[in-house]
Amino acid sequence: MTDKKTYYITTPIYYPSDKLHIGHTYTTVAADAAARFKRMLGYDVMFLTGTDEHGQKIQRKAEEKGVAPKQYVDEIVSGIKDLWKLMQISNDRFIRTTDKQHEEAVQKIFKKLYDQGDIYKSEYEGWYCTPCESFWTERQLVDGKCPDCGREVELTKEESYFFRLSKYQDRLIKYIEENPDFIQPQTRQNEMLNNFLKPGLDDLCVSRTSFDWGIPVAFDEKHVIYVWIDALSNYATALGFLSDDDSDYKRYWPADVHLVGKEIVRFHTIIWPIMLMALGEPIPKQVFGHGWLILEGGKMSKSKGNVVDPVKLVEKYGVDAIRYFLLREVPFGSDGVYSEEALVNRMNSDLANDLGNLMSRTITMIDKYFEGIIPAYKNTGDPLDADLIKLAEETSSKVEELMDKLLFSNALTEIWKLIGRSNKYIDETMPWVLARDESKKERLAEVLYNLAEVLRIIAVLVSPYMPNTPAKIFHQLGVTDESLKAWKSIKSFGALKAGTVVNKGEIIFPRVELKAEEPSTAAAVQPVSGKDKKKNTTQETQKEDNYITIDDFAKIDLRVAKVLECEKIEGSDKLLKLQLEVGSEKRQVVSGISKYYSPEDLIGKNVVLVANLKPVKLRGVESNGMILAADTADSVVVVSPLSEIPSGSKVR
Ligand code: MSP
Repeated sequence: MTDKKTYYITTPIYYPSDKLHIGHTYTTVAADAAARFKRMLGYDVMFLTGTDEHGQKIQRKAEEKGVAPKQYVDEIVSGIKDLWKLMQISNDRFIRTTDKQHEEAVQKIFKKLYDQGDIYKSEYEGWYCTPCESFWTERQLVDGKCPDCGREVELTKEESYFFRLSKYQDRLIKYIEENPDFIQPQTRQNEMLNNFLKPGLDDLCVSRTSFDWGIPVAFDEKHVIYVWIDALSNYATALGFLSDDDSDYKRYWPADVHLVGKEIVRFHTIIWPIMLMALGEPIPKQVFGHGWLILEGGKMSKSKGNVVDPVKLVEKYGVDAIRYFLLREVPFGSDGVYSEEALVNRMNSDLANDLGNLMSRTITMIDKYFEGIIPAYKNTGDPLDADLIKLAEETSSKVEELMDKLLFSNALTEIWKLIGRSNKYIDETMPWVLARDESKKERLAEVLYNLAEVLRIIAVLVSPYMPNTPAKIFHQLGVTDESLKAWKSIKSFGALKAGTVVNKGEIIFPRVELKAEEPSTAAAVQPVSGKDKKKNTTQETQKEDNYITIDDFAKIDLRVAKVLECEKIEGSDKLLKLQLEVGSEKRQVVSGISKYYSPEDLIGKNVVLVANLKPVKLRGVESNGMILAADTADSVVVVSPLSEIPSGSKVR
């Protein structure tokens, strides 16, 4: 163990999905840049990422593929690890929620909370959004759909354990108000306080009995622990919390920052700190909720098909360019629209033109005018030099300040100001003119030394964001001494040794062209700001997301069905059980319309059935499809064809 200051940073743990898209890599790349940055500053860094492998959603996917859930996740997790290798993610640890140590610790957490009365047994009746793994009350639904993702929710009634969130609500409000850095950016803090905490928290349902792919409650094995309780615990269990060896937990906890996308800030700033309060453990110093990368059509997501494959992008453009683009283009915290066109523009302007040209001009001139040997440094106090040197010396501190606030884009902007200033310095000093006059040889040496040194400083500055570029710059500059690659070596100008031999090499960032046939999904990539920002609130993005294509619509198998039998479901005042005739087939469907129709109203009628909906059990009764009904403010009307038509007819 060392005395170094620690820095513990995490990404969310990812749902195993066979194709992570460029939006997913956004969180990890940002966390990686922050981790690399702190390492350079001398911190003892713990950078954690991993996978969130339990829950109904995964179980269903595995069932669809006809494999056991563990087999399903094992295959995908190795692909995710490969992607992080490709993106050069420097995580120190990778947790899987199927790790034995994690599972055991989560069971202990649950038991401790139960033993102390913070978890109790009752019955849950309400709505569940499987894609989000979230519970909602009727009141919280928006048009009967999940308020987060806008997708269908399922009515659930089960014996469940509940977590007394309500007991801790006032303490949490006080904590958030007294620790303004805890939820960042500020807007997300206001959202949490005003939309969730101040209106009052309901106790949270924290176990499920309707499926079994989860961590069992140790003392009541028919229950599995709610996937968010399981998932959030990873940040502590990965460090050995409640295990035989908790030395890392003691060393690194509380986390310095949990980096998460904005849609999951709620879980990280309400459920997680309350769990920790109840356990008597310290609360993480910060949860930072970043914005989304969106494509035309809304948030990039696999279910919508508007995804960009990071592997293909990296193959085409290289990892450093992609990382640079992700971090530079969108101010962290805001949403930004992605397009390949904007990526290519950035590559050509910032990388090929600005950085690439500075490097090739500098090395070429040292090669040409000084036979490839960096000339001796002399500071004659020329005002042009003083300006450049001052900026070069100040940039590292500016970057430190901005990175402390996780303002990646602003930090890169500062670095690019130095690059821009250096290119301007070449134009101002005109070394090619100095070279023509033997009496200006000393001045030429000074100018080229300054450029070489500034290039070294830039290579150090870009290291956290672009892991491969510094090595290329150092190679061409002939820098081999490790101490000249360290952060502290850029605090004062002039460390580069005269006499170093440069290696004129290839262009580090060649210009790229966007081929016409390549999809260019948006005119420009811009942070969504000002007027547009209002438009792009979560809700608005969801509205845009509501468009589907005719192909999407064709996936829904709608059929006319005749109601043969209908009865109330015992113990429920909402549900009716219907036996339907769909052509030659018989179907049983459960529908929540009992308040509006008695069985006699429906028997003999034709209705419209969603025939290919995945079967579910409601109140233990199997439902194989859903009949369509229209909602009014206070009633529900079942949809029926205008004239008599054979059952089984397709509705399109
Ligand atoms: N498993 C949960 C997290 C549990 S943490 C205890 C989860 N996983 S996820 O795979 O859906 O998302 C992982 C991260 O990717 C989240 O931070 C999410 O916000 C981020 N992104 C997914 N799509 C994104 C974009 N289109 N843009 C930016 N980030 C996005 O949530």
